[in-house]
Amino acid sequence: GFDIGKLRAQTGLVTLDSGFGNTSSCKSAITYLDGEQGILRYRGYPIEQLAERGSFIETAYLLINGELPTVDELAAFRGEISRHTMLHEDIKRFFDGFPTDAHPMAMLTSVVSALSTFYQDSHNPFDERQRHISTIRLLAKLPTIAAYAYKKAMGHPVVYPRNDLGYVENFLRMTFSVPAEDYDLDPVVVNALDKLLILHADHEQNCSTSTVRLVGSSQANLFVSISAGINALWGPLHGGANAAVLEMLEGIQADGGDVDAFIRRVKNKEQGVRLMGFGHRVYKSFDPRAKIIKEAAHDVLSALGKSDELLDIALKLEEHALSDDYFVSRNLYPNVDFYTGLIYRAMGFPTSMFTVLFALGRLPGWIAQWHEMINDPTTRIGRPRQVYTGVVERDYRPVEQR
Ligand code: ACO
Repeated sequence: GFDIGKLRAQTGLVTLDSGFGNTSSCKSAITYLDGEQGILRYRGYPIEQLAERGSFIETAYLLINGELPTVDELAAFRGEISRHTMLHEDIKRFFDGFPTDAHPMAMLTSVVSALSTFYQDSHNPFDERQRHISTIRLLAKLPTIAAYAYKKAMGHPVVYPRNDLGYVENFLRMTFSVPAEDYDLDPVVVNALDKLLILHADHEQNCSTSTVRLVGSSQANLFVSISAGINALWGPLHGGANAAVLEMLEGIQADGGDVDAFIRRVKNKEQGVRLMGFGHRVYKSFDPRAKIIKEAAHDVLSALGKSDELLDIALKLEEHALSDDYFVSRNLYPNVDFYTGLIYRAMGFPTSMFTVLFALGRLPGWIAQWHEMINDPTTRIGRPRQVYTGVVERDYRPVEQR
């Protein structure tokens, strides 16, 4: 067959594909995505079925192991995770050292990276047992780290994990309970968050996942590979969009709720003004996750008895954009982030935590992709080429002669 490697060696041929719009970086059997038809499946299972009937923790198992767990396998997986939720007490000192207004995403990525100092046995990615234990540690500890980051921002003491609780319940309790007081877990919130985490759990070779793979391709350990993914996720064009959507809605509200005026600014392409939560590199008809989340937003807000003027603004924006040629002709539809922020807000999370919640959801996908990359014998270090446009050659002159 056709061998691009051979052709490149013979001709010096390289392709230039800005943003990797048409370039596959790997083969993968984890997530199937059809952007034209709005289809998303994890290991063949439609996202709608997993969100409706599955749980986040079994979705994590599915993504990482390739199959849904049996009753026994699920119990063992849950049990193993619950034995690793504690953070080393010295990790608390990291939080003491961060400034009080530190962004939770910055704390998350720093502490995940620092896990590699506490678990130095993780440094060989080819040791299968260590890969497994690093996976369990990350899944178990990321909610604890996220809750500590929240507590730091609030100036409250941390709440230790309680391992008789489910994954999401434990995270909510560590986040919102105050020591010495009981915390009532609301099943509406638990179920909605579980569903949102499922919907975020993988999305094939997006920016953060490609980052995890690229860093991992150098055989760096799992902790630092995931930390790199968290950094990539933070940007407003990726996971940071959920926070940016809320800031946009608040901005429109502060300007008297004038949706038309805002749409005009977007269409005039004012610098930095985009309809956040709209558009997607791959989905060109609709984002199947957004469909499910829009319904969930209504359900959660009404179940929690919260009316939110921002939801009304969001609905108006969506209605307006979907009938406007600017957005229609560019295939711009609401993406996963358009409605999530409203749900997180109704649950009581501050905007700065929104992207952290995305990271909690995406973690199993990142881990699954990292394992797939390490296990693939055809993996080579990721090393893109370039088209050089600089000066061809010139001679050095000492500083006093310049
Ligand atoms: N609002 C207004 N115009 C937009 C938007 C938007 N949200 N998104 C794209 N466009 C326009 C661009 O200006 C461009 O117009 P032009 O052809 O006249 O120049 C055209 O649509 C194509 O846009 P690109 O930027 O080339 O699309 P790309 O595939 O590179 O970007 C992205 C995809 C980053 C998601 C983009 O749509 C965007 O910035 N959206 C807002 C941020 C966002 O919601 N990100 C979350 C994505 S989902 C996720 O990560 C979970």
